[in-house]
Amino acid sequence: MGSATAHANTNIALVKYWGKRDTDLNLPAVSSLSMTLSTMGTTTRVTFDPGLRRDELLLDDHPAPEAARARTSRFLDLVREASGVESFASVRTRNNFPTASGLASSASGFAALALAATRAAGMDADLATLASLARRGSGSAPRSLLGGFVALPAGQAADGSDCIPRQVAPPEHWDLRLVVTLTASGAKTVGSTEGMERTRLTSPYYGAWIEENARAMEAASRAVVERDFETLGRVVEASCFRMHAVALSAEPAVLYWNDGTVRVIHRVRSMRDAGVRCWLTMDAGPHVKVLCLPGDADLIAKDLAAMPGVQGVLVERPGPGAEVLP
Ligand code: PMV
Repeated sequence: MGSATAHANTNIALVKYWGKRDTDLNLPAVSSLSMTLSTMGTTTRVTFDPGLRRDELLLDDHPAPEAARARTSRFLDLVREASGVESFASVRTRNNFPTASGLASSASGFAALALAATRAAGMDADLATLASLARRGSGSAPRSLLGGFVALPAGQAADGSDCIPRQVAPPEHWDLRLVVTLTASGAKTVGSTEGMERTRLTSPYYGAWIEENARAMEAASRAVVERDFETLGRVVEASCFRMHAVALSAEPAVLYWNDGTVRVIHRVRSMRDAGVRCWLTMDAGPHVKVLCLPGDADLIAKDLAAMPGVQGVLVERPGPGAEVLP
């Protein structure tokens, strides 16, 4: 029986990925740039066991819903195909942040699963192999394999061989903070795959979104290397609002914000008008994440935590990449 445990932290995109160029291989239509976080992550243990009659998934010690088990099982099929291992596996996975918060990220989950499952299957997979596996689970997962500031190129190769993450700068390059606010969760949101496909197929602005990507990547990557906070902040917020604008222009509109989201958006903008250097970003959910400098993080976190509609606040910094645990 092969067994291995791996840990991966989640990542937040500074330049957003939204849209696929190949839905079967889950290849992104745009490049993205992210920051891997320091504490929010997933630890996963995989054991291939010839005695099992199907793959099992335990989430925080409880049997996972069937949809999650089936998604994990389809992912394990790829690892079985690559390794030649034939048995089913038991997967035990744990998030060190509230799973029900809607922040539960598929990025840390599939990065940890790719690393643990390949190791448990006896493979010593390189970054390209791990990335192409992790990507099949979730488009943002390859970025969590590496620490610090990470670029994931869209690439052009039909097989995705040029869609491999690259570290733009290690975590210690720049001591930034990301204040993550959990806003009250409303109705269930549209999944990212469905939202992206609806956007691609129905938004009249999808072409402009794709076209703008190279400029955003170039400006944000340079700002990271030069530690130019003003430029990075501006590009981060623009990328976020453009992603949400193109999603909102789909038919029917893909809307992830709730009342709390909009309140926090206005609050961040007024703090900035008052001289606090902070910029926001949001993903396929209602939570607002605020990028700031270390000296301002406590003030911003305290201020946002006191707002109606905000259920909790976490402060993150750049963190390490995925690793196999002893
Ligand atoms: O990895 P997915 O399929 O959950 O897509 C992630 C999409 C965004 O979080 C909205 C943006 C991003 O680049 O992470």
